[in-house]
Amino acid sequence: MSQSKSHMGKCFYITTAIDYVNGQPHLGHAYEKLAADVIARARRSFGQEVFFLTGLDEHGQKVQQAALGEGKTPQAYCDELAAAWKDFATKLGLTNNDFVRTTEPRHKKVVQQILSKLHAEGHFYKAIYEGFYSTKEETFLTEKDRRPDGTFDPIYGEVVQLQEENYYFRLKDHQSWLIEYLEQNPSFVSPEYRRNEVLGFLKNNVLEDLCITRPAFRLNWGIPLPFDANYVTYVWFDALTNYFSIPAASGDPGIPDSFRAPVSAPQSGGQLWPADIHLIGKDILKFHAVFWPILLKAMQAPIPKQILAHGWWQKDGQKMSKTFGNVVDPLAIIDEWGVDAFRYYVLRELDLGPDGNWTDAGFQGRYTAELANGLGNLVNRSLSMLKRYRNGVVPPRSNELAADAEKVIHETRTLLEQNRLQGALQSIWSLVSRANQYVDHTAPFKLARDAANATRLDEVLYNLAETCRILAVLLWPFLPTTASKLYEQLALPGAPNKFEAASWGGRVSGHTVGTPAPLFPRKEI
Ligand code: MSP
Repeated sequence: MSQSKSHMGKCFYITTAIDYVNGQPHLGHAYEKLAADVIARARRSFGQEVFFLTGLDEHGQKVQQAALGEGKTPQAYCDELAAAWKDFATKLGLTNNDFVRTTEPRHKKVVQQILSKLHAEGHFYKAIYEGFYSTKEETFLTEKDRRPDGTFDPIYGEVVQLQEENYYFRLKDHQSWLIEYLEQNPSFVSPEYRRNEVLGFLKNNVLEDLCITRPAFRLNWGIPLPFDANYVTYVWFDALTNYFSIPAASGDPGIPDSFRAPVSAPQSGGQLWPADIHLIGKDILKFHAVFWPILLKAMQAPIPKQILAHGWWQKDGQKMSKTFGNVVDPLAIIDEWGVDAFRYYVLRELDLGPDGNWTDAGFQGRYTAELANGLGNLVNRSLSMLKRYRNGVVPPRSNELAADAEKVIHETRTLLEQNRLQGALQSIWSLVSRANQYVDHTAPFKLARDAANATRLDEVLYNLAETCRILAVLLWPFLPTTASKLYEQLALPGAPNKFEAASWGGRVSGHTVGTPAPLFPRKEI
């Protein structure tokens, strides 16, 4: 049902980092997008209106060089890769509402508007920089960045000395404001230890003003400064703005007048800005928790509600890198094991915050124990017994597992509201285990041998079928394909995408279920 904005209120607006297009997507990219997808789906399941934005960061030296290396123009190079990354989003089952590319006119226009306004209001100045520069990281370095042996960290690649005139943004003027803001808004950076890290950094260092340009003769793959054609915008200034430019371009009422595009008809859906969650990796926390709020403050725009920083994946205890040849390719895993097995493992294995470690044995172990023997077996035996002993017709209501289910429903909802995705999966699996134990204890296959146990068998079969139905609803944000298959096997209409359906006794007794089929086929490993 489409309603006009004025009736809709605020939409839950979640974003991910936009990935650099200079390579193929890997486990780290996939993890972040999946976590955002689960949060988005969970909120929709609760009945909230959600806008989920992801996309690509296409400007900058890295992209320009990569394109050059392949003998392509940067735009042609980006277009090709963008198609692959969009396809990747589909393969992951993402429910993003939009996909931003920073080379799109709708984005570039807003970046230029911001630059013009901040320039006119005196937030920038021009100065000569003399020092070290890392092309790989597109960043200026100082003596402080040298390691004890005098060299720079290899992450910076080749470091050159240069002298260059650029535009600077008066970042340091806002340092004390930001400290106060972080202190007064404790949930602005999450988890708490990341907030403390940012506060520690701000209290112990004097911020340097942010260089927001690169001379066009050195780098031309960027958004030109509207007031000086000799420069392009620094890639981070450009990239951070994506979160804001997309709502601005669609005339979102949360965007201040000076940046909001005029729209002829009110956009359907609720107000987006300010974002509710920017989900990002720990490596880019400073850009999001320091530069971004200060930039928005200078723009006199509302500050997003939360920067949620996740940890990094390693493979077998080592940093993933092309050099080591140990990069986990999500598409290969998905092709072999199915998208839900991949979604399950990454979200079950690693909570949002700490670092994680991918091992093939760990993945296969969880697949076998938790998906095939846990959930898959529960559903398969519950439905098979219902078919065999009751022709698939659900017996009258019984409440033996009701309390266990209600406890898990409540816990899952609370954990999802706190973005504790790993905890929610643990809670859901406590119900899977409880129901599997229930089968073992009640032994319906034995009850079925004697007609005198008919009522007891009815009770057991009802409890199992109802638990499977509730599991489909709880699992939907995490394992949408499996949850839908489960609903299909139960022959229930619609999709398991409304959390309110997770309530004991919702199944109509007398309903006939469909045909069971293994959800997670056992694999020879
Ligand atoms: N383009 C910038 C982000 C701009 S956001 C306004 C960027 N791109 S990236 O492709 O390098 O990284 C994109 C996201 O993937 C980041 O949040 C980063 O932390 C995440 N990850 C990259 N490697 C990762 C792991 N090994 N593990 C988990 N996440 C990782 O930074």
